[in-house]
Amino acid sequence: MAFTSKYGSLLILLSLMPTWAGALVTAQNVTDKHTLAISLNIATTELDRLDILYSDTDWMFDFFAQPTYTYSPGAVINANAATFPTTVGNGLTLAWVTLGPCGMQAPHYHPRASNYIVAIDGSVETYMIAENGARMVTNLLGPGKMTLFPRGSLHSMQNKGCGNATLVSALSTEDPGTHTVANGLFNLPRDMVAAAFGGNKNLDIDDLMKAIPPVGTGVTMGSADCLAKCSMQ
Ligand SMILES: *[C@@H]1O[C@H](CO)[C@@H](O)[C@H](O)[C@H]1NC(C)=O
Ligand SMILES: *[C@@H]1O[C@H](CO)[C@@H](O)[C@H](O)[C@H]1NC(C)=O
Repeated sequence: MAFTSKYGSLLILLSLMPTWAGALVTAQNVTDKHTLAISLNIATTELDRLDILYSDTDWMFDFFAQPTYTYSPGAVINANAATFPTTVGNGLTLAWVTLGPCGMQAPHYHPRASNYIVAIDGSVETYMIAENGARMVTNLLGPGKMTLFPRGSLHSMQNKGCGNATLVSALSTEDPGTHTVANGLFNLPRDMVAAAFGGNKNLDIDDLMKAIPPVGTGVTMGSADCLAKCSMQ
């Protein structure tokens, strides 16, 4: 799938090549983000990139205008290579994170980026485990407080309050990737998953799997304790 669509983009780009010198592919007249990313990647100089991104609006990203912007239960809205092609070659991603009451980011890691996260409002508990044998680092972030999730570390967070919480997340590449652990784990062969859980025959792996929320907007409902406290059950 990915290969086909990338290959398709390349064909579109190649078909534009004869006019390359005179008629640039620009962010304004290429709606296919793959084609735009490819042209930004192969541009020889920053000035060539500026020609492609010739409109000032190419340099602006509106988090609130994104279709996934919500506080129920919340969302991670990424300005990265996929959503904001201007970032290609600049080595960073910024995400606006909305957590409604008890909203949580399920345990996940970024295979290619370290991650700062700073709270703007609300009260959010963060959890981080760097690798096997590492202790869990926990922090309660209020406005202006920040923590760091090193590249590849397992981390998770939950809005502990019954109001909204908002954070900003900065990642050290424009294509950090996110792997949500529960969703990834259950894509392995069923018998391997059962064995990883200790091989207990009474454990219903299918039931467990069905209960896992889809990755969706990156935010799901948090712990039963929080839901009870906020009368959300
Ligand atoms: C895209 O827009 C630029 C700037 O207006 C123009 O020079 C170029 O010819 C257009 N390219 C195509 C393929 O339409
Ligand atoms: C959270 O924010 C949304 C969007 O601004 C708003 O509609 C909602 O009422 C807020 N919820 C709480 C609990 O403040």
